[in-house]
Amino acid sequence: MNFETVKKHLIRLYHGYIKNYLPKIVLSLLLSFGVAGSTASIAWLLDPAIEKMFMEKDETMMVLIPVAIVLAFATKGITLYLAKTVLIRVGGEIVMIIQKQLASSILVSDTHTIESKHSGEYISHIMFDVGQVFSFVSNGILNLMKDSMTLIVLVVLMFYQNWKLAFFAILMMPIAAFAAKSLGKRIGKVTTESTLLNARLTSYLTEMLKASRMIKIFQQEKFELDRSDVELTKNMKTKIKIGAIMIRATPIMEFLTGLMIAGFIYYAGFMIRSGEMGINNFFSFLTAMMLAYQPVRSLATLNMTFYQAAAGAERVFKVLDHQPSIKEIDTDPNIEIGTGNIEFKNVSYVYPKTDAQAVKNINLSIDGGSTVALVGHSGAGKSTIINLLPRFYDPQEGEITIDKQDITKVKLSSLRKSISMVSQDIVLFDDTVSANIRYAKMDASEEEIIKACEFAAASDFIKNLPKSYETLIGENGIRLSGGQKQRISIARAVLKNSPIILLDEATSSLDSESESKVQNAIVNLTKNKTTLVIAHRLSTISRADKIFVLNQGKIVDMGTHNELLENSIIYKNLYSKQLSA
Ligand SMILES: Nc1ncnc2c1ncn2[C@@H]1O[C@H](COP(=O)(O)OP(=O)(O)OP(=O)(O)O)[C@@H](O)[C@H]1O
Ligand SMILES: [Mg+2]
Repeated sequence: MNFETVKKHLIRLYHGYIKNYLPKIVLSLLLSFGVAGSTASIAWLLDPAIEKMFMEKDETMMVLIPVAIVLAFATKGITLYLAKTVLIRVGGEIVMIIQKQLASSILVSDTHTIESKHSGEYISHIMFDVGQVFSFVSNGILNLMKDSMTLIVLVVLMFYQNWKLAFFAILMMPIAAFAAKSLGKRIGKVTTESTLLNARLTSYLTEMLKASRMIKIFQQEKFELDRSDVELTKNMKTKIKIGAIMIRATPIMEFLTGLMIAGFIYYAGFMIRSGEMGINNFFSFLTAMMLAYQPVRSLATLNMTFYQAAAGAERVFKVLDHQPSIKEIDTDPNIEIGTGNIEFKNVSYVYPKTDAQAVKNINLSIDGGSTVALVGHSGAGKSTIINLLPRFYDPQEGEITIDKQDITKVKLSSLRKSISMVSQDIVLFDDTVSANIRYAKMDASEEEIIKACEFAAASDFIKNLPKSYETLIGENGIRLSGGQKQRISIARAVLKNSPIILLDEATSSLDSESESKVQNAIVNLTKNKTTLVIAHRLSTISRADKIFVLNQGKIVDMGTHNELLENSIIYKNLYSKQLSA
């Protein structure tokens, strides 16, 4: 990352976030004056200490000066503490603001944008990248103010004690600055590398945890251990590299300080002998110079913090700047659902980063209140068709209308409100049964939830759970059976009570008793609603008013079950091989 980019990101950080905290930053600036002043006064006090206490043996000073020294240290401690707390709070608040923005940007982004990155990368943005910004605000800014001010005050004191010697000490500074600049660039690069590795590691770890059963059955513990070993080793190496670069300034600075002090003592020897400088000035100067060592070192490494913050901010801004193409537009009218007629006209869709059309030239019409089934081989494009209706994706060609309204021209929230979806892979939260169902309607009463569950043939098994509706079901409902999960997700759809139902039937077969329960639930759910169902079960298909047969993204046949059995070879094939199973 070059200097211009670093500057650009830091300026944006300033205008977007830091500027709002200017009063607090000014407060910590004032406190930094306190730190600088008290540090310098410690060095300055040595001058009278030696002169009045040691040389002139002044009795009052014997008491006053030690007291003053204690006061100076105490002031330094308190002002530093206060300045740090102020900026840690500012940093914390800024971090939270950025994390909230990231979360909201991720929540509204397009389905394909989210799917184009591993979830671990997003976690890494929220945790690690924002962390870089935090250390910039809470440490970087404070160090910049406190150390530069301390340095200035100490240098002034050095000039006051002896300007010739001070001049000599100042000459050393550009060398230190030069060394630090090259380190800053390198640290920016390694930090980027480390963040990418962090993202990979997070991705890997989430997958390893999710796949625990698969790892066990394939007995790939050793393979996974080796894989994690590789990732962790890489991670360790970059961490060490960063650490090494960070402290690479130390030997350089130590050496320069050594040079300075040696030269200074050598030169001071002459001046003291010739009477040009007193011992008291010498000690005060030496202390100032020793105290200046810490701020110089800290300032020299400060640009690394800046580079790291810019690198983190760059990745965060990229996510924040991404504009979704499917989004809520306030001026769009709400959709008006009458009977709920759905029509697909010449609809084609290609997934991003693929060439082949997943669905081609689809023409479908579903009468309001009727049930239409989609059947076809795996990969035929059934789920794709269903995903186009709530606008998870927009087709590149063609038009989809509901009651003659183009779904891209109505308010997105009103469209999604009128659609319930029970998908092939059910998503449940690690929360109670009742919270999972209430997700469809946050203000639903207890009775509504119980009624939805009765409707979805779920209330019997829920009552037998350890804590009934308040049972925690575990990550993605791990403590429930397949059929139970399905019925909970159906109950959720029942509670939403939308006029349009999309149903992607799970392919996994249930035992006949659960099967009939789930079927009952579906019959209840879809009563008098426009339903588009991807059917794998004969019971669903025989209930459908119309069936569309899909093959390689195209609709090849349509009709009722009996008509298709007579006319459609593909349907007959599917029926005998798959549907009857
Ligand atoms: N997110 C995606 N990105 C790229 N290609 C995809 C994506 N989802 C599906 N596809 C491709 O689109 C085609 C249709 O997939 P779709 O999921 O619609 O099939 P399906 O008929 O629902 O199959 P199944 O019965 O197995 O669920 C497939 O060839 C698949 O590879
Ligand atoms: Mg599917």
